[in-house]
Amino acid sequence: MREYTPENITDAVLEQMSTTPDPRMKEIMESAVRHLHAFARDVKLTPAEWMKGIEFMTKVGQMCSPARQEFILLSDTVGLSALVNIMHDKTKMEDATGASLLGPFFRESTPVYEHGAQISSKTDGKELVLYGRVANVQGQPLANAMVTVWQTAADGEYDIQKSIEVIDCRGIFRTDADGNFLVRTVRPLGYYIPLDGPVGAMVIAQKRHGKRPAHIHFLIAAPGYRELVTALYLAGDEHLEDDVVFGASGDLVVEVKGNDPASPVPGVPSCHFDFRLARESEADRRAGRVGADPGQITKSADGKPTGPYGAPPPEVLAAEKEKKGGFLGLFRK
Ligand code: BEZ
Ligand code: FE
Repeated sequence: MREYTPENITDAVLEQMSTTPDPRMKEIMESAVRHLHAFARDVKLTPAEWMKGIEFMTKVGQMCSPARQEFILLSDTVGLSALVNIMHDKTKMEDATGASLLGPFFRESTPVYEHGAQISSKTDGKELVLYGRVANVQGQPLANAMVTVWQTAADGEYDIQKSIEVIDCRGIFRTDADGNFLVRTVRPLGYYIPLDGPVGAMVIAQKRHGKRPAHIHFLIAAPGYRELVTALYLAGDEHLEDDVVFGASGDLVVEVKGNDPASPVPGVPSCHFDFRLARESEADRRAGRVGADPGQITKSADGKPTGPYGAPPPEVLAAEKEKKGGFLGLFRK
């Protein structure tokens, strides 16, 4: 009868899994088991620590609903989403605009707007114009490309954080015959990622600030081109260099100009960015996105939508209030 030791148990598992018919599943599971076992040996994982990990993952699963994806948030905060996104971005056929995270606030149901429409129900004097062109890597404009935009309102909250029924500060636009897009919106604020669940508890235990810099999400699609999931980050934000989910990158930083003479809406602060799309490969069609509308991933056990995201714990908010000019936007109660 065989006796398992810390040294031979990994090979025993791999041997038993060697019957897996799907070659890619076999490759992924073998590597996962190897790394998982190496990790347990490396840190000399104790039974109590193993149990803590099981409890943590259980809470992460219990927090998932059609309004919330705590597993994606976990992947985001340990940099796995950014890693998969960066690796995927490197496989594009042509040197197009860089990708960024889709994030948990993307919604399939988004209103369609005319060129130049305002997507925010309240502008509160914080109006911002987004304009630019969608082109291929040779610079030829792509007419009728679909430009989906979503962001926080001027108060720093996404619509879904107010209520799962509210739709605001998101819209689908089409580029005109010259590939131009024009969106009127409001200036987004940087915000805390949802800190009221197990992932937030982990981030707080690690003494991380838990914030993302101010940004605007874009999903750009045109037939024959690789879908671009990206975001524009506003210059000057204090967390461009230490985004809690590792999404901000230098090539996607834009200035808000007070009075840009080239802006189609003079006198309103504006951001200009030209997007370049890569041609779509056969593999691109199967690659998928790093993220999804949470409602597409899971439904709550009773089929009813559960609450979305709550406030960070009081101690985080209290520490923020202590700071001069500290963050008071998102999750304000
Ligand atoms: C966001 O950009 O909206 C986001 C991304 C990852 C985690 C939380 C929020
Ligand atoms: Fe976001």
